[in-house]
Amino acid sequence: MTGTSGRTGRLRIVTGIAMAAALVGGAAAVALGPPLVGANAAATADTLRAAAAQSGMFFGVAASPGRLNSIVAREFSQLTPENDMKPETIAGAGGTIQNTGNADTLVNYAQTNSMVVRGHTMVWYSQAGQLQGASQSTLNTYIKNALLKWGNKISYWDVVNESLDDNNTGQRRNQWPHTLDRDANGDGDYFDASDTDYIRESFRQARQVVQQSGLTTKLCINDYDVEGLTVRGGAKNKKSDALYDIVKTYSQEPYKYIDCVGFQSHFNDNPNSIISDDLQANIQRFADLGVEVHLTELDIDDDLSNNDIGDGQAANYRKVVRACLNVAKCTGITVWGISDNESWRSSERGLLFTGSNGSYQKKSAYYAVLDELNKGRQTTSPSPSGPSPSGPSSSPSSSTSASSNPSPSNPSPSNPSPSNPPSSSPVSPPPPAGCSASVALNSWDGGFVATVRVTAGSAPINGWTVTIPLPAGASVTNTWNAVQSGTSDTVQYTNVSYNGRVAAGQSTEFGFQGTGSGTGMTAVCAAS
Ligand code: XIL
Repeated sequence: MTGTSGRTGRLRIVTGIAMAAALVGGAAAVALGPPLVGANAAATADTLRAAAAQSGMFFGVAASPGRLNSIVAREFSQLTPENDMKPETIAGAGGTIQNTGNADTLVNYAQTNSMVVRGHTMVWYSQAGQLQGASQSTLNTYIKNALLKWGNKISYWDVVNESLDDNNTGQRRNQWPHTLDRDANGDGDYFDASDTDYIRESFRQARQVVQQSGLTTKLCINDYDVEGLTVRGGAKNKKSDALYDIVKTYSQEPYKYIDCVGFQSHFNDNPNSIISDDLQANIQRFADLGVEVHLTELDIDDDLSNNDIGDGQAANYRKVVRACLNVAKCTGITVWGISDNESWRSSERGLLFTGSNGSYQKKSAYYAVLDELNKGRQTTSPSPSGPSPSGPSSSPSSSTSASSNPSPSNPSPSNPSPSNPPSSSPVSPPPPAGCSASVALNSWDGGFVATVRVTAGSAPINGWTVTIPLPAGASVTNTWNAVQSGTSDTVQYTNVSYNGRVAAGQSTEFGFQGTGSGTGMTAVCAAS
């Protein structure tokens, strides 16, 4: 199966990312049975990164410096160091940072190629190197050093990885760093003020550093076997429930420490590692807390398709990608390697390419993912505590205009230094009907990403047009989730098919990237 049947011919909205990707990409992948090029083919993105960007998502890959073939920049808009940022590699004595050469190479590569970086990972029982057995105070030193080492070049950091036990117990692991925990009142959790919780303390430290240093980096917790609401046979996924309790506690007041949750998504035939039908519902449950959800380490064992790495595995990939696309705050997917042959679990044949050393062939699963991404987000469900983001970028580091942007926002496949914490723009009450728009900016030297939030007034709207006078010298290079007219002076954006209808008081987002300075931009919204 080539996965072409669902092609829709929808307008290609994001041209800049696709063009940039085409420029940086060389000829790496040899297509095995590529899709037929039909009349509509020109209207679909032809790389994973460009296809994902249409929905405001990144599509990423785990890599090491030895795997930085041109296919990486062409197909992927996000990079996770597979091993090179783990404490085993970069932690020195007493929480210092050392030996960052490989990590630097990856970060620089990502910046050059407009890819988002996920820092992976700080506090983890495994591959802990000199941090193994460390005190909270040493962990805190390390957390600070790691955050400050790369600053905003890292959009997302896995602050805590794999804190929960195997076998669906719903308990935390019992090895370090869990041994730092203390359940003072013996009620079975570590959430009370009198309890000690290394998860809380680690995120507290990370949040403090982010705030004090004005970073936009988002702080994530990551784990596996947490993907479904249920496990094989329909029993509750207690591990996922336990993660939910942690995220619920530490993403909300009074803490507000956690911005994002990673479902590792190493799917295989372990009863707790299957692709369950309630994957989307579980993603939605976390998204409803207001955090971003990412599928951070995706691979799908061919055991889940009777060893078929053709149509069967492709169907599994479709299911997973669709579940993410259908939740607005599921803002990125990362595959754990390029090719089956080079995967950490090569016998599972669970990735999108075969081949090695830069000679890669696309599998059916690749075409299925590309096709599914090109279909875009088909249902979006607004979350109660945040926007329903649809633009790929970054949370604001500054924002201006006519309404507020209350929650952290999106990843930026095309933004070299994107990310985080919610900063609010000046608020004026929305008009009684019609719409208002606010601009949240994430800037770097010579460029910016703007995330524009369109909010309906007291009545629903069926479409919108946003007009933005650009500062002198600024011009737009790339837009997502809106149709753009003009690139400099005054630019106008109208909704695309899936985000024109906005319920009373609800919001949607689009975004654009520009060169020059975007500082001071304001936006005017007209409803239709
Ligand atoms: C794996 C790497 O892929 C391997 O190369 C390494 O030998 C072990 O770690 N969960 C994680 C990742 O969070 O860091 C792991 O990566 C895979 C499981």
